Amino acid sequence: MLAVGSLWLSWLACDQTEIEPLPTPEPAPEQPPAPPPAPAGYAWQLPKGLAEPPVVPDDNPMTDDKVALGHQLFMDPRLSVDGSRSCYSCHVNERGNADGRATALGAGNKVLNRNTPTIWNVGYLTALYWDGRADSLEKVAIGAWKGGNMGVGDGLDAKAAEIGALPEYGPRIRAAFGLADSDPITPDHIAKALSAYERTLLCGDTPADRFELSDSARVGKTLFENEARCIACHVPPHFTDNKFHDIGLGYDKKGYPHKESDPGRGKHTQVSEDNGKFRTPTLRNVSKTGPYFHNGSVATLEEAVRYMAKGGNLKAPNKDPLLVPAELTDAQIRDIVAYLEALACPAELMVLGDPLPVPEK
Ligand code: HEC
Ligand code: HEC
Repeated sequence: MLAVGSLWLSWLACDQTEIEPLPTPEPAPEQPPAPPPAPAGYAWQLPKGLAEPPVVPDDNPMTDDKVALGHQLFMDPRLSVDGSRSCYSCHVNERGNADGRATALGAGNKVLNRNTPTIWNVGYLTALYWDGRADSLEKVAIGAWKGGNMGVGDGLDAKAAEIGALPEYGPRIRAAFGLADSDPITPDHIAKALSAYERTLLCGDTPADRFELSDSARVGKTLFENEARCIACHVPPHFTDNKFHDIGLGYDKKGYPHKESDPGRGKHTQVSEDNGKFRTPTLRNVSKTGPYFHNGSVATLEEAVRYMAKGGNLKAPNKDPLLVPAELTDAQIRDIVAYLEALACPAELMVLGDPLPVPEK
């Protein structure tokens, strides 16, 4: 025992005394000049109530210049096929960053089949559009631009080249994406800039985020989270679960299907159980974005809350079991409305250039 112990000690002693000095390093060979520093991370300014910035895709990092470029593009009617509307035309401050219509009015004054959602906090959504058919803002930007909203269709590449040829855009787009003069400007660049801007549209610091609620709104919050179980799907801080539910709007009061009901999620997945399901919308700014629901079928917030609180359309065969009827008085309905009013976003989009007149509802 003793022998082992002293061996150990002497090994330790050796270890301490016989350390070779480190060789003096050779002078470093001539280095090539250091590459320019990687662009610093974007300086997010998170309002109260939002703990994390949105997730940014690796292939579209945020930079101040790209955001400013996207902002300008968002406001520019030259993106649409006929110069008649910009993204902002349908996502306008005066209408809660939606358009105030039951369903949108696209290029060529074509009436589209869905209600325009607000775009506050869209950067946090993992399933975009009412039916979740897009999984990134970049795809939505292409969709909105090519499809009925802006009507550009097959002319998308030509339109991107046209925008890129404008002196106020070409150099900025090339700089934002590190393009050489000979590189083409594609729809992808425009969609990325628009999306970078949209990720900055943060809605927090509402009276609800500041815990500054009236007595009625306070009662409404308790009802929302408890008796009425709204929180089962409208999960704070974004008031959505990013999932799809059928609340029964496709059926009449007797349980007969409406003639032209929108299959919603089912149209995208081609799974019949998904018919009638729509993504839970945010409730931020909801007091300003009527009419309500995917088809704009309900005019006022009070009516929408009443519909949800009674458990949706109880006669609809596939209504989501998470939506349960709650026995609420008229005063309690108004309390929930007061709470939802306290989710109104204090910020506004900064309008650039000469905005088109705010569209008629
Ligand atoms: C004609 C009106 C109109 C215009 C113009 C328009 N939008 Fe929209 N926007 C809508 C409608 C309607 C929807 C919902 C469509 C659906 O769910 O099928 C929508 C949905 C969105 C969404 C998804 C929101 C969510 O909750 O999932 C984003 C993001 C968006 N638009 C951004 C844009 C951008 C960027 C542009 C310009 C390239 C644009 N919009 C132009 C009407 C419009
Ligand atoms: C089962 C999940 C679920 C529950 C529970 C739920 N909602 Fe919803 N809510 C949705 C979905 C999904 C929609 C969109 C449905 C559509 O348009 O077809 C929606 C839409 C709304 C809208 C319209 C928003 C807009 O922008 O058009 C309001 C307001 C609303 N809900 C409030 C409530 C309230 C208040 C409660 C509790 C009484 C509640 N919801 C409970 C899933 C739910």
